[in-house]
Amino acid sequence: MIHDPNKVYIFDTTLRDGEQVPGCQLDTKQKIEIAKSLELLGVDVIEAGFPVSSPGDFNSVIELSKAVNHPIICALTRANKNDIDVAADALRYAKRPRIHTGIGSSDFHIKHKFNSTREEILERAVDAVKYAKKYVEDIEFYAEDAGRADIEFLAKMVEAVIAAGATVVNIPDTNGYCLPDQYGSKILYLKENVKNIDNAIISVHCHNDLGLATANSIAGLQNGARQVECTINGIGERAGNTSMEEVVMILKTHKVLGLNTSIDATQFYDISHMVRNQMNMPVQPNKAIVGGNAFSHSSGIHQDGFLKNRENYEIIKPEDVGFPDASIVLTARSGRHALKHHLVRLGHDLNKDNLDIVYKQFLVLADSKQGINDTDLNQLVALHLA
Ligand code: KIV
Ligand code: ZN
Repeated sequence: MIHDPNKVYIFDTTLRDGEQVPGCQLDTKQKIEIAKSLELLGVDVIEAGFPVSSPGDFNSVIELSKAVNHPIICALTRANKNDIDVAADALRYAKRPRIHTGIGSSDFHIKHKFNSTREEILERAVDAVKYAKKYVEDIEFYAEDAGRADIEFLAKMVEAVIAAGATVVNIPDTNGYCLPDQYGSKILYLKENVKNIDNAIISVHCHNDLGLATANSIAGLQNGARQVECTINGIGERAGNTSMEEVVMILKTHKVLGLNTSIDATQFYDISHMVRNQMNMPVQPNKAIVGGNAFSHSSGIHQDGFLKNRENYEIIKPEDVGFPDASIVLTARSGRHALKHHLVRLGHDLNKDNLDIVYKQFLVLADSKQGINDTDLNQLVALHLA
């Protein structure tokens, strides 16, 4: 198979990193429903769980492996034999299995999490990859807390795990610490200094503690990474993971980046709602791409410009992400143009004087009420133009 150098692989971790959020736990049936939707969406990899963590997670990886046909099914482990044995067992029905193993790479983690040394950690990393390789061909290695790791040590670790058989190397900014140019430079350094780097795909896995997860992921892709780890709605531990819909729409909007994915973005609205409902996890209204207000225009200046030409205030068409339509929300900040638009829609084609009369009354009402609906508009016309 010829590998497209501009293809970005979408690794979905909604069901693993996303599902770790307190209160978001799903049962196996719910996970299967989401996994099937992710398959239809076109993701390349589904991280189905962390099998050693609980019998429920183990079972979910088994059932997802049976239910899903095309995407790679990935199971997470720590760098030890038992975790890897259990993951391999859980993946036994997967048509395309991947084991995702790894260990801390920053001095902080090495000292304060593992009470160990760089040398020992390196050995454990290599041993884990070699051991996992006995079970499956496709091994992803994560260098946890790579965002804060010493770059020369990180490069050494990456080179060693690729030599041991890793097919994908994940460079997580576990704590959402990096600035985009720092993270991008890290990826570039690995690209330029790890001699066997072309034998593996570099993966970006960014957390959103400083609100930079998407920006950092894009910086990584601009510097040579070709897999992005992300979740629907950006859900995940603490401030969340990189949001899949944001990354995909950035790549679609900025064609100059020359990168593509196999995602059918028109399914984002539906899958976003499925995930928020199943996980009981609401999405903030101003969330990019899938938030309730992502395509609603409420100030007079924007509404007027939008009604003259949508592209004045719309860089993505709502239908491109499956959103029902853009909306012009009537508030006390709306202008005559927006009011007229809604009145015409309701069958009231007013002349200028009558529009002025209704507009004045509309502003009085809008100051006293959150949002004006169709009933309010019909009443305004009936009352003041009788
Ligand atoms: O954030 C992280 O480092 C992770 C790894 C387990 C991949 O989620
Ligand atoms: Zn993570």
